[in-house]
Amino acid sequence: MKDITIALAKGRLAEFSIDIFEQIGFTCSEMKEKSRKLIFKDEEHKLRFILVKASDVPTYVEYGAADIGIVGKDTLLEEGRNLYEMVNLKCGACKMVVAGLATLQGKLDSLNNKRIATKYVRIAKDYFQIKKGQTIEVIKLNGSVELAPLVGLSEVIVDIVESGKTLKENGLVVLEEICDISARLVVNRVSMKMERKRIMDIVEKIKERI
Ligand code: PRP
Repeated sequence: MKDITIALAKGRLAEFSIDIFEQIGFTCSEMKEKSRKLIFKDEEHKLRFILVKASDVPTYVEYGAADIGIVGKDTLLEEGRNLYEMVNLKCGACKMVVAGLATLQGKLDSLNNKRIATKYVRIAKDYFQIKKGQTIEVIKLNGSVELAPLVGLSEVIVDIVESGKTLKENGLVVLEEICDISARLVVNRVSMKMERKRIMDIVEKIKERI
């Protein structure tokens, strides 16, 4: 029997995922110890856990290097990989929004050739160009996105809002909501055919725990 490989996004989401896998009877105790190891095995259940950067989880799963992945919906939308999305784990719930200065409230659609700063280039383009049919310029940033409208780099941002604290402390407001975000369990398309029973067993057990 071959190992089922599960790609986990390093950090808080991996900790949450490990807890869930332990609750459904898989052994991940070695992953809780501080180390630089990237592969962990549960020999008894023929499972292999790999720790990868969040944005790489969909890549490992699409190419079949991992059969299953656990990652945020924001990453899935941004990476646009061809995967089965099987379970909404409801963890890390937040929203993808358009935000900017309050003076833009109700005026967003009439603002032509908007510059949008974001870590999520694809999500911003899908929303403004494809859904709304607007001409925009997307400026890719890697963090501290809220700064962009404050220093004139862009009119608005597309980013995640969780508590709303970062927006508030920087004098910005939510102008439009794009979608809800939370952690998802995804499955490789070929693995779903070849290892359907074992994968569905894991999926069903996880669903019961949510
Ligand atoms: C994320 C996100 C927002 C912030 C939202 O940034 O990009 O900036 O958290 O959270 P809040 O609504 O609870 O304030 P992150 O912490 O990942 O840092 P970054 O700016 O480096 O991307």
